[in-house]
Amino acid sequence: DPNLFRYKEFCFHSMLHTKEHIETLQDFKIKHDDVFLVTYPKSGTIWTQHILSLICSEGYRNGTEETTTDTRIPWLETKSPDIHVDWTKYAEISPRLFTTHLSYSLIPQELKTKKGKVIYVVRNPKDVAASFYHFYNIFVHLKKPANFDEFMERFLAGDVVAGLWFDHVQGWYSHKDEFNVLFLKYEDMIMDLCSIVQKICKFLGRELDETTLNTVVEKASFKNMKMDTRANGEHLPGQFFNENKARFMRKGTIGDWKNLMTVAQSEQFDAIFKEKMKGLPIIFTWDISEQYS
Ligand code: A3P
Repeated sequence: DPNLFRYKEFCFHSMLHTKEHIETLQDFKIKHDDVFLVTYPKSGTIWTQHILSLICSEGYRNGTEETTTDTRIPWLETKSPDIHVDWTKYAEISPRLFTTHLSYSLIPQELKTKKGKVIYVVRNPKDVAASFYHFYNIFVHLKKPANFDEFMERFLAGDVVAGLWFDHVQGWYSHKDEFNVLFLKYEDMIMDLCSIVQKICKFLGRELDETTLNTVVEKASFKNMKMDTRANGEHLPGQFFNENKARFMRKGTIGDWKNLMTVAQSEQFDAIFKEKMKGLPIIFTWDISEQYS
């Protein structure tokens, strides 16, 4: 894909990132109360951004709705004239919240000394691939896949934004002891969002009363976020998207990969998964029906 460039096993978008900026992030100064939301793309990033900004504003109690997601939780690695983050204004906010897709090896060094907190969200990779495929079809500046078959080949070769899913997850999980980190699963968020919000609050050392907790859970529901123009990215420059509009809230379910993958593709995926994930004790929910089993 001519829109991407590789740097240290990672795939960056040339419109949003520069190698020089990524290199400077190695020395990024961390504050003790910094929180980094880390994900591989399509794993529930915006959802978790939304939850974090809701928690930190106590359910937007003071009508701070406009300062949500990418304003309140900017992208660490993005450096683009189209998407500008006013870091000076941001410096006064506490705690600082950042979002990043960076791999373990590209993350600021200081974070590896347990200074600051990391929330890593992981999603079953078949749904990630399915969600990513749809994203590739709405984002103008990415090489449109001819079909899912071709996209899956690229995904399994790591020839997509953020590189290989397996490397990303392996990198973060196998170095977990270097971080002050909370691992979350997208599927657990789907199945019991309230418990996950409580878990995040505990990790951040914040207490919400019951009403506020319920407000956070309600405002972070798929139904509500689907109607939210900011969560959908509709404020982003229209020229980036087909039909001049982003639509990030798509289906928000577990197991949508079944609508795209053939049995043969799924088996090929399983074989690679088994090989690459050897030694990592993450148990994924691949299908919504599993929650009842
Ligand atoms: P689908 O394409 O499978 O619907 P990211 O923000 O990392 O790009 O992840 C996007 C995925 O998260 C999309 O998945 C999107 O629908 C899903 N998502 C976003 N908000 C959600 C919510 N409140 N509940 C469930 N899924 C959500």
